Amino acid sequence: MAEVMAYLKQKEESERDAALLAEVDGKVVGTAGVDNINAAEKTRHRASFGISIAKAWWGLGIGRALTEACIECARQAGYLQLELEVVAVNHRAVELYKSVGFIEYGRNPKGFLSRNSGWQENVLMKLEL
Ligand SMILES: CC(C)(COP(=O)(O)OP(=O)(O)OC[C@H]1O[C@@H](n2cnc3c(N)ncnc32)[C@H](O)[C@@H]1OP(=O)(O)O)[C@@H](O)C(=O)NCCC(=O)NCCS
Repeated sequence: MAEVMAYLKQKEESERDAALLAEVDGKVVGTAGVDNINAAEKTRHRASFGISIAKAWWGLGIGRALTEACIECARQAGYLQLELEVVAVNHRAVELYKSVGFIEYGRNPKGFLSRNSGWQENVLMKLEL
């Protein structure tokens, strides 16, 4: 728990990174974040996006709300491009990302090596802000 608190404090103090939580009855049911790809001058315009909602809370609009809030945070932080990588069979996530404007710009056939399913293709997506 101390590690989580330290991580959130660091995000809270950061001017360019964001960590958002979705809470129901005091329980965290979702997290999402925006992080600079790399602080180097030439990559300062690029941020990565990540999200996860607890399964029991899928389909209620929480993912969309956190995604839209993260996009707004990224804009306000001055990023010009938000990026993500998602396993191709994760249609639920791909549809969410497309619906807020992300476009596919490539694929990595060996994106993930899963213990259960072996190689998994990843879709590379970006959103111009
Ligand atoms: C992907 C994920 C974030 C979606 O969160 P959610 O709270 O269920 O999403 P929402 O209820 O806000 O739905 C947002 C959109 O997702 C898409 N979506 C949701 N359920 C879907 C389904 N069964 N099939 C296809 N698309 C679906 C739709 O575009 C939906 O928009 P709509 O309701 O206006 O049609 C969530 O399922 C999740 O955390 N999955 C596990 C972790 C994960 O995959 N993270 C992303 C890794 S890159």
